[in-house]
Amino acid sequence: MAIKIVVTSGKGGVGKTTVACNLAAQLAKKGKRVIVCDLDFGLNNVDVVLGVEHLALYDIVDAIEGRCRPRQALIKHPRFPTLYALSSNRVSERYVSPQAVRLILDALSPQFDFILIDSPAGIEEGFHRAAACADEALLVTTPHISAMRDADRVANILKSYRFEEVGLAVNLVRKDFARRGEVMRPQEIAKALGISLFAAIPEEDKFYLENIVARSRAFRALAEFYLCGGREQQKKTGGNP
Ligand SMILES: Nc1ncnc2c1ncn2[C@@H]1O[C@H](COP(=O)(O)OP(=O)(O)O)[C@@H](O)[C@H]1O
Ligand SMILES: [Mg+2]
Repeated sequence: MAIKIVVTSGKGGVGKTTVACNLAAQLAKKGKRVIVCDLDFGLNNVDVVLGVEHLALYDIVDAIEGRCRPRQALIKHPRFPTLYALSSNRVSERYVSPQAVRLILDALSPQFDFILIDSPAGIEEGFHRAAACADEALLVTTPHISAMRDADRVANILKSYRFEEVGLAVNLVRKDFARRGEVMRPQEIAKALGISLFAAIPEEDKFYLENIVARSRAFRALAEFYLCGGREQQKKTGGNP
């Protein structure tokens, strides 16, 4: 069965989709079978970030409404044969229940190792729909005050879900800013939010999937972390990301 991880945030634009897609690509590079499921219905762009938007025949709502089988709604990545997108580009104004999404993900789960769920920002209905489908959560924030404040609200709500793991990814990290004391360090942010730090992702000059997959140590390390069994393993080894 796949491990389902919701990638979420308080504030928008902090890097949820980037983290979900790059983590997925790294896991796929290690031979894991991975789906990135786009549940950010309003600002859906997983297919674009993965570069597969031209390959979409069906989306998750087609699967929910029975126009295709769940497996047919998956878009296979041309470069990573075990990486798939489950897009939501045709989502209508119709209500999509968490249960309906869950049924689709549960049907796909036995054939995959990881399902990464790209959630909308914030704490509205779409966030709860995404969270209700997951076993674990990865909260993404940047070191900026506004993002951290919103992350704090989401962190508190995540604690009310019975997730097996809740981790923090601090994105757009600038060591020079932290050194000068202009922003908090990732470990300090994790401590303030009361969530374990799973990844500190530096701000990159150029951002393409190919680029990141080729050279991002942060995403490679995050993938290794999940492949090694996550926090339980970290506790045993006493390691930090
Ligand atoms: N570590 C990073 N370095 C540089 N740019 C980044 C980084 N992470 C994300 N971005 C850029 O920031 C923008 C927002 O990221 P995105 O993943 O779409 O955020 P979200 O899904 O949370 O709205 C995108 O243009 C993305 O390429
Ligand atoms: Mg996004």
